[in-house]
Amino acid sequence: MKLFSAAVATAAVLVAGSASAQDATKGKSVFNQCKACHMLDKALVGPPLKGVVGRKAGSVEGYSYSALMKAAGEAGLVWNDQELVEYLKNPTEYLKTYVSSKGKTASGASKMVFMLASEDQRKNVVAYLDEQK
Ligand code: HEC
Repeated sequence: MKLFSAAVATAAVLVAGSASAQDATKGKSVFNQCKACHMLDKALVGPPLKGVVGRKAGSVEGYSYSALMKAAGEAGLVWNDQELVEYLKNPTEYLKTYVSSKGKTASGASKMVFMLASEDQRKNVVAYLDEQK
């Protein structure tokens, strides 16, 4: 019996661990860092982010993206959770790697100069964006 309850306790800790690794509520406060440049519904310095999950990269009508972002979208980049978590670590490097992995070339840099180092924060903010349909 003792062993059994220890196993249950361990499982509960594991479940709690994975839930906190991707937490939209925490992501909402991480998003405050994005608000310097992004709104959900309108372009600011950056494009609007509502509905970004599942959207082709660089595809908001009327927003003037970098050539690199456009090239990534044309090469087939569609934002999903995984891609976004990687992108936020270093936008320019991520886009360059993506474009060249598709056998294309693109020069220049992303217009997004902000980088989010913490993987937890990146996962949480993406969980938040997931809910902004
Ligand atoms: C200093 C301003 C700035 C900050 C802060 C910033 N961004 Fe950006 N973001 C931009 C710009 C500018 C672009 C357009 C990039 C390009 O064209 O290369 C962009 C593009 C994006 C895109 C691609 C959207 C699309 O339509 O393809 C995503 C996703 C994104 N940002 C998410 C975020 C998130 C999440 C945060 C906060 C963690 C954040 N950004 C913080 C300026 C910023």
